Amino acid sequence: MHTREIKIKITAFSEVSELPEDEQKLLQRAVKSVSQSYAPYSEFHVGAAVLLDNGEVICGSNQENAAYPSGLCAERVALFYANSKYPGAKVKILAIAAHADHFHIDKPIAPCGTCRQVIAETENRQQSKIKILMQGESGPVNMTEGIESLLPLTFYEDKLKKK
Ligand code: THU
Repeated sequence: MHTREIKIKITAFSEVSELPEDEQKLLQRAVKSVSQSYAPYSEFHVGAAVLLDNGEVICGSNQENAAYPSGLCAERVALFYANSKYPGAKVKILAIAAHADHFHIDKPIAPCGTCRQVIAETENRQQSKIKILMQGESGPVNMTEGIESLLPLTFYEDKLKKK
């Protein structure tokens, strides 16, 4: 028997202004997308903005449904739209922001497990890491370089094949 410890690396920026200008701008796009969310059930609004290697920015917001599981998170709306509009373009940065109708979000929000899996698939497909920026309504901005820190022991397509 042996135990393995897995290290994760998250960088916290106490002020948005500590980030490079292009990343600040991407976060602003994510914040703008928060207001375009359709979240009458959870009243929790999420915005995502994706910067592609062709310079385009694709935004998304969470889209809910009375049949709850039919809704989709902001990150997946943005990532799926990006790959359907620009197939082959690589995702460089994913910025995430949120607003709750009935409380103040004072910590960065992190993508849900299913969105982490979709980020992992995107990284694997494009063979390059995605920088993830996570922001609340106040408090620090968290950053991680690649999904590995958010989803260790990731399930990739190679697991579908017998070795
Ligand atoms: N949500 C997102 O859009 N992204 C996340 O990373 C976490 C959760 C959405 C899903 C649902 O519409 C609402 O937030 C509450 O879970």
